[in-house]
Amino acid sequence: MSSRLSVGIVTVSDRAAAGEYEDHGGPALRAACLESGWEVLAEAVVPDEAEAIQKTVRAFSAQGCGLILTTGGTGIALRDVTPEAIRGVMRVEIPGFGETMRRKSFEITPNAILSRSLAAIVDRSLVVALPGKPSGAVECLGFVKDAIPHTVKLAQGMPTSC
Ligand code: MTE
Repeated sequence: MSSRLSVGIVTVSDRAAAGEYEDHGGPALRAACLESGWEVLAEAVVPDEAEAIQKTVRAFSAQGCGLILTTGGTGIALRDVTPEAIRGVMRVEIPGFGETMRRKSFEITPNAILSRSLAAIVDRSLVVALPGKPSGAVECLGFVKDAIPHTVKLAQGMPTSC
């Protein structure tokens, strides 16, 4: 792995995957990653289907993405299955990420309580599931960003100072 953190971005949206709606979440996250000095290695738009989400996350991990960000499908709509999809393939969940994202976001909008955003280790990658609204996804990433490099190192079995 290069010293720059390698990121995969997965937009989860039926409408964006069908081309009925332009994806704004993926590009917003890409810009935020580049601003942090991270390298965006892979991007995809997939429908709200557990199998498509799982396949893409695992493919991005195999491609060398230490961090995989998903945006969308964390709420309570009938088609929202991102948390279930990630939990179906994860080794461990890291509850502090979801707790922090909800706590900080609730200070901005009470609707943040609806997001079941989470982080987990899948294969050798850290997966962070962010809400679908582009500004919300970028806000949530900002709340947990400082914890990401160390978590990715641990996920990849690299030596760390603690
Ligand atoms: N978190 C932040 N920081 N800002 C937001 O605007 N929107 C909320 C929430 N989390 C929001 C947020 C809303 S309105 C919903 S419905 C949930 O995320 C779930 O969104 P999703 O189903 O698109 O993932």
